[in-house]
Amino acid sequence: MEATTKPSAEQVEREIGEQLDQETFDPPSGFRDKALIGDESEPEAAARDPEAWWAKQAEALDWFEEPDQVLDDSEAPFYKWFVGGKLNASHNALDRHVEAGRGDRVAFHWRGEEGEERDVTYADLLRDVKRLANVLKERGIQPGDVVGIFLPMIPEVAVAMLACARIGAPHNVVFGGFSPDAVKERMEFSEAKGLITVDCARRKGKAADIKPAVDAFLDDVPSIETVVVVRNTGADVPMKEGRDLFYDEAIEAAGEDCPAEPLDAEHPLYVLYTSGSTAKPKGILHTTGGYLTGVAWTTKHVFDLKPDEDVFWCSADVGWVTGHSYIVYGPLMCGMTSVMYEGAPDYPDKDIWWELCERYGVTVFYTAPTAIRACMKWGISHPQKHDLSKLRLLGTVGEPINPKAWLWYWKLIGGERCPIVDTWWQTETGHIMITTLPGAQYAKPGSAGKPLPGLEAAVLDEEGNEVPAGEQGLLALRRPWPGMLRTLFKDDERFKETYFSKWDETTYFVGDAARKDKDGYFWIVGRVDDVVNVSGHRLSTAEVESAIVAHPRVAEAAVIGQQDEDTGQSIAAFVILEGEDSEGGEALEKELREHVAQRIGKLARPKRIIWTADVPKTRSGKIMRRLLRDIAEGRELGDVTTLREPGVMKDLEGKFAGEEE
Ligand code: PRX
Repeated sequence: MEATTKPSAEQVEREIGEQLDQETFDPPSGFRDKALIGDESEPEAAARDPEAWWAKQAEALDWFEEPDQVLDDSEAPFYKWFVGGKLNASHNALDRHVEAGRGDRVAFHWRGEEGEERDVTYADLLRDVKRLANVLKERGIQPGDVVGIFLPMIPEVAVAMLACARIGAPHNVVFGGFSPDAVKERMEFSEAKGLITVDCARRKGKAADIKPAVDAFLDDVPSIETVVVVRNTGADVPMKEGRDLFYDEAIEAAGEDCPAEPLDAEHPLYVLYTSGSTAKPKGILHTTGGYLTGVAWTTKHVFDLKPDEDVFWCSADVGWVTGHSYIVYGPLMCGMTSVMYEGAPDYPDKDIWWELCERYGVTVFYTAPTAIRACMKWGISHPQKHDLSKLRLLGTVGEPINPKAWLWYWKLIGGERCPIVDTWWQTETGHIMITTLPGAQYAKPGSAGKPLPGLEAAVLDEEGNEVPAGEQGLLALRRPWPGMLRTLFKDDERFKETYFSKWDETTYFVGDAARKDKDGYFWIVGRVDDVVNVSGHRLSTAEVESAIVAHPRVAEAAVIGQQDEDTGQSIAAFVILEGEDSEGGEALEKELREHVAQRIGKLARPKRIIWTADVPKTRSGKIMRRLLRDIAEGRELGDVTTLREPGVMKDLEGKFAGEEE
């Protein structure tokens, strides 16, 4: 690109300002003409008979035995999909592509932090998956046994997940940024029999010891009988005889033959822990046939993917559901070539993402609004250094996108020729639920769009009545869908209570506030429970509170999510100290942040700590977070009449007035 053709930052800013009022963006004609779905016929067909429509989509998978019933709702809300069918996720992700002669196709262009590159083909993955599956079997891991995975963004993470799927052992992946304490807890809750981890992880030029950190708790989790260690940096790490194996040595010694286990459609594929309203994370359980059907359909049609032409890149971490569905299962199911990047978006430099898009010819790119806002801050020169002309579709996920960031993405990354799909979904839903079909439906910046075919969403009031168009209410999903969570791991009661008790057992309570406009487009407002969304990651206020309170100097803590320009929301903690002193000072503030990082992970560190002598509570002793949010965000206080001691608010308000100065 010629330097003279590039607009200046001022020009971009001005143009974005001028377009802020533009409500709708039609699919660019160059895109629409070649799109897989270019009109409304698919949503219409699905609306006529959703079950039949989903049954048709399930035909995209390779079944060992065809299902004989599409949906069994006899025990609602414990729904079953594709009953009687048998299949295997790793067979669908790998074997069938290799058997069809596509073994040499690159599954992942992997890029390491320090610029290392590996092209991993479908045949490579299949060979390693079979060998690792054999290792796990030899160690006595049986169908139904949970295997923990705590790995960075390296190809072995996909091998590990698929090896588990091959033998019917549900995996429990823990995000690499979580602390060993959080890993331990998740291993205990899921009664994991094995753990696949790494010697060290790399982050921005530094290496962090993982195996030694994991060792510190392994003896306390006796269910874990096998630990497979991937040599990532090659550091010398302690290994326990009889329990620990090096990945490379183990797969080298293992047999190469390992048929994929024919599993029931409802066989558990994975459990993934996510934050809920209480301090105990929820083990979201996904099963095989329905999940894969929903993930395969959405990967192909929301991202309009053509396996022979496209290169897909979802920049999430595989430790979150976005990585499960749109780095591993969806793209592999569709036979795609994807990019997998180990590092951070600003290392070694702030143009690394765009460098990778150019280098691998990425055509479809999927990321989070918070990342786009960070890129905006870093400036337009970074994307402008690279040729992004291969891109033809962009996506976002995790939080609402503000129109300014949407326009920046549209202009600077998409060159005004790429539709943007804003995809709303959750760990629980398994796959994308609300978005726009990029070749058929216009986008409205800030709105996720409409429910995808075969799905039904509504905005309800407390009683379950639909609220008028444009008014805020509670988002609900009204009919079961194949990729839905089946339960919370070993906690059916909490599952029912959390998702199907607000209205009735056929209406799923999302936990988000939303509005639906006159065109049927959904505008997601944010969580209505005590969950905070930091950079698109879910954190529970109760979990952070309990981490803070575990510090010996803290008597009580109240945590809220406050609006944040960069991360959407950030964590603010009101902290009451033990003893007379109510002011903690800077050193303690630092210590508390570190303490939370150790207990949960760095992403849970409070951005702001507010020392206080008391927090507002109802007469029954419940912390009134609503008031704390009002205070933190400088709003006029809501109703204080139910407070036990209304005077508390005066002190806190005074404090904030001081802090803002
Ligand atoms: O509040 C919604 C928000 O993220 C929550 C789900 O978080 P999690 O299970 O971690 O999954 C994130 C990635 C799928 C939702 O309840 N959320 C997700 N996507 C959007 C969103 N909010 C607004 N717009 C979105 N596109």
